[in-house]
Amino acid sequence: MFESTENWLEEVRNIAVLGSGTMGHGIALMFALGEYNVRLYDIDHALLQKAITLIDSHLDSFVENGLATKEAKRQALSRIKVTTDLATSIKNANFILEAGPEILKVKQKIFHDVEEICRQDAILASNTSTFLISDIGVLCK
Ligand SMILES: NC(=O)c1ccc[n+]([C@@H]2O[C@H](COP(=O)([O-])OP(=O)(O)OC[C@H]3O[C@@H](n4cnc5c(N)ncnc54)[C@H](O)[C@@H]3O)[C@@H](O)[C@H]2O)c1
Repeated sequence: MFESTENWLEEVRNIAVLGSGTMGHGIALMFALGEYNVRLYDIDHALLQKAITLIDSHLDSFVENGLATKEAKRQALSRIKVTTDLATSIKNANFILEAGPEILKVKQKIFHDVEEICRQDAILASNTSTFLISDIGVLCK
């Protein structure tokens, strides 16, 4: 559990991003630049490899444009770990962001599976464009 309710946000250090597509890889990048530890999950290693290649390329662009140093790029990359194992991705995560496809049944299953194995105090969030959180969480206890 968080040690205090006042500073709970400061205790969030470990982020899980579920889905490494258009949104997920960018979200993972921004958390890593913000000095959070990131686990990026997807259903396929090739997708994760593509995500890391894109993240690397965005960081190069940041460095070229003076928005990040080479050292910040190196550290951001080192903070992102990828996995196709859901349990590994959310183990120890304080904040879990779902960025899977905009398909209600897929999101419902992700939240159901995550709830079974995540930390009790983890914050669960969705990047959904259209669905109500109450509908996404319908299979949760
Ligand atoms: N693309 C946008 O401009 C945009 C903007 C705002 C919000 N969103 C929302 O963000 C979410 C992600 O959109 P996107 O454009 O990145 O989609 P995307 O299709 O590019 O990426 C979705 C990723 O989720 C992965 N995935 C599939 N099944 C999964 C599962 N069971 N668990 C975890 N990941 C799984 C896919 O392999 C894929 O890599 C959607 O809910 C979308 O509506 C998208």
